[in-house]
Amino acid sequence: MPNRKKIALIGAGNIGGELAMQAARKELGDVVLLDIPDKEGVAKGKALDMMQACALEGFDANILGTSNYDDIEGADVVIVTAGVPRKPGMSRDDLLSINLKIMRSVAGNVKDKAPDALVIVISNPLDAMVYEMKKVTGFPRERVVGMAGALDSARFECFLADEAGVSVKDVSALVLGGHGDTMVPCLSYTTIKGVPATKVIDKDKLDAMVQRTAKGGGEIVGLMGTSAYVAPASGAISMAESYLRGQRRMIACAAFLEGEYGYKDIYMGVPILIGPAGMEKVVEIELSDGEKSMLETSAAAVRDLIEAAAKL
Ligand code: APR
Repeated sequence: MPNRKKIALIGAGNIGGELAMQAARKELGDVVLLDIPDKEGVAKGKALDMMQACALEGFDANILGTSNYDDIEGADVVIVTAGVPRKPGMSRDDLLSINLKIMRSVAGNVKDKAPDALVIVISNPLDAMVYEMKKVTGFPRERVVGMAGALDSARFECFLADEAGVSVKDVSALVLGGHGDTMVPCLSYTTIKGVPATKVIDKDKLDAMVQRTAKGGGEIVGLMGTSAYVAPASGAISMAESYLRGQRRMIACAAFLEGEYGYKDIYMGVPILIGPAGMEKVVEIELSDGEKSMLETSAAAVRDLIEAAAKL
């Protein structure tokens, strides 16, 4: 089918499979689901299963399972989940050395086969992985972003809506910083239909929700024995959709900073506009002193990770 966009998913595990189905349901384009040769059968099997669901549900999207990078040639969007997920007791940082090697090989192939794609990285530890992707591909910062803030903000919104007893549609939150326990939920920009959440919800309860959000990934790992995969996929699909459909949505994402918020040569979660040119703008908002100092702590944690990665 000509003129369809092409979305390449590197990693056909839990998040990869969910990404494929969400992309197909939104008819964002045709999907290529790639994994290592040992898992080619899984990629092909998932692709077939989902194609059959598309036939049943009436969505036009081809989904191809493969282990051959030639199949991602010319992709418009590449979403990377390749790597190992967290097991109970493991921090995202424990994953660094394993997933770094994987990211380097994936990035080399993406550079070769999809040189014009917008690349969205999900693999953890996110900020170090997306930094490595940019370093190896040499792509401009407009075309290499990390998915974290969308998910962390959604987690916070979900808890807020539940606590306030209102529709989640009316809740808006912004979680910035690195994707780890030092993330920064910005209470000053958290609202319920424009009303600051601090006016509607007690401070103690808000603080508890901030803590729960920061440990939101770990909560799910503890329950399921592996990482969350539905909401992470939704986060990346909202970014891909904003790019492919030119929506210019403002989404908290890991972006390469060149002086914004006072930081350089680092990936960190900040609000960005995603449109036809990719990461079109880092939106600089005023932060409270408390938020600035939390961001500083978060940036230090990300820097440690990036430095550790550079030595591996
Ligand atoms: N190339 C392609 N795929 C790879 C490679 C590689 N070099 N190495 C590993 N993979 C594949 C694995 O074979 C597996 O199918 O990546 C897939 C990862 O899937 P899961 O183990 O199900 O992990 P998932 O839950 O999808 O999470 C993936 O995202 O949120 C992060 O912490 C999470 O880093 C993890 C990643």
